[in-house]
Amino acid sequence: MSEHTWTPSSWHALPAAQQPDWPDPADLDRVLKYVASLPPLVFAGEARNLTDQLARAARGEAFLLQAGDCAESFDEFSADSIRDKLKIILQMAVVLTYSAGVPIVKVGRIAGQFAKPRSSPTETIDGVELPSFRGHLVNAPGFTAAARTPDPERLLAAYHQSAATLNLLRAFTQGGFADLGRVHQWNREFVASSPAGQRYNEVAAGIDRALRFMAACGVDTESDPQLHQADLWTSHEALVLGYEEALTRQDSLTGEWYDCSAHMLWIGERTRQLDGAHMEFLSGVGNPIGCKLGPTATPEEALAICEKLNPGRVPGRLTLVIRMGADTITEGLRPILRAVTDAGHPVVWACDPMHGNTFTSESGHKTRHLEDILAEIGGFFDAHRAEGTWPGGVHIELTGGDVTECLGGSSEVLSGHLDTRYETVCDPRLNGRQSLDLAFRVAELLPKR
Ligand code: TRP
Ligand code: MN
Repeated sequence: MSEHTWTPSSWHALPAAQQPDWPDPADLDRVLKYVASLPPLVFAGEARNLTDQLARAARGEAFLLQAGDCAESFDEFSADSIRDKLKIILQMAVVLTYSAGVPIVKVGRIAGQFAKPRSSPTETIDGVELPSFRGHLVNAPGFTAAARTPDPERLLAAYHQSAATLNLLRAFTQGGFADLGRVHQWNREFVASSPAGQRYNEVAAGIDRALRFMAACGVDTESDPQLHQADLWTSHEALVLGYEEALTRQDSLTGEWYDCSAHMLWIGERTRQLDGAHMEFLSGVGNPIGCKLGPTATPEEALAICEKLNPGRVPGRLTLVIRMGADTITEGLRPILRAVTDAGHPVVWACDPMHGNTFTSESGHKTRHLEDILAEIGGFFDAHRAEGTWPGGVHIELTGGDVTECLGGSSEVLSGHLDTRYETVCDPRLNGRQSLDLAFRVAELLPKR
């Protein structure tokens, strides 16, 4: 055990990967002080409730659906886009709940997912070198010096967009929009006309029948809030540590520190150095934490991460998000499952089938094929079946819209279509139809209770 004491700023003493080069440190400082004075976006008690929900996923009694944009955008910020993302997540959750018969813990990559790690700090086009785009939290994507210069005012804009997004999500999920009596209304036109959408309609009809059946049996379906409300928790990659620190607050009930920028935070594949600043920072907050594990991750590393982030072995505290790629997953994951399980560490095992399966199409688009994504999910379930562990969840990049960013699906997106509606500010996302295709596949793979 190290002798040091954790504080919200103790990460400053350690190397912090992927931090923006802010041009004016005094200006950054001024903004961060202001953010630190603003109200928290979530409350510590909510983060504890999510930990309890995730503990069920660690024990094999629930399944995590974590989904949303690769990166949220300041330009795509509207009630419609928030509502459409919520619709597809609710649709997927309904399909999974209905067929697996276990509760689905619904966590959005939303209301704060604004920062991106990059493979190189700069980008060169035609001999011009500029800082890389690091997400709307930091700079803008256009290839000009003005757009690419990190601007601390963006931290404030992100805070406010997160607050407004979260507010609308709370209103929708608690105020009647997520009511199981409205399952049909989440099926948008372009989804409903697809094979997956028609399959969805059958599930929705089954839910209608089940509700009528229960009411006919004398169950009071009107007054049970469980049928009329759903929880959608928020999450993002805790990347820009100054921002996360500014939103880290001490809970008055327990004295513990919580990063109140979201319910759940995760550490990316590029920032999970054991002696790095990100591990240090997140080790001290009480929120549920995720950590990505890529194809090079070893069982020893996985164990060390468990010890660092969850020394108390609290179920639900730690989710390991596996993103190995379709070819590596079955062989790569099994030794890790074994090592962590043998050591008695309770974790939620989640599969990110997106990031290990990205390639560039002939048309020059960064893309992913739904078949590769499903193959990685298949490998993930195989590994768990072989080791006797519970496949605890999936972590997906999607949007509610009718985009053409990923290939394949039951209404197939072909290479020549990619140009039609390629709208992402970062990685390619599944569209509404492909997301439903994926939900049905996961539903088939989930062990029946
Ligand atoms: N409250 C339950 C849940 O969140 C049931 C529920 C209500 C639900 N609305 C939902 C499930 C929408 C999925 C989607 O699981
Ligand atoms: Mn991504």
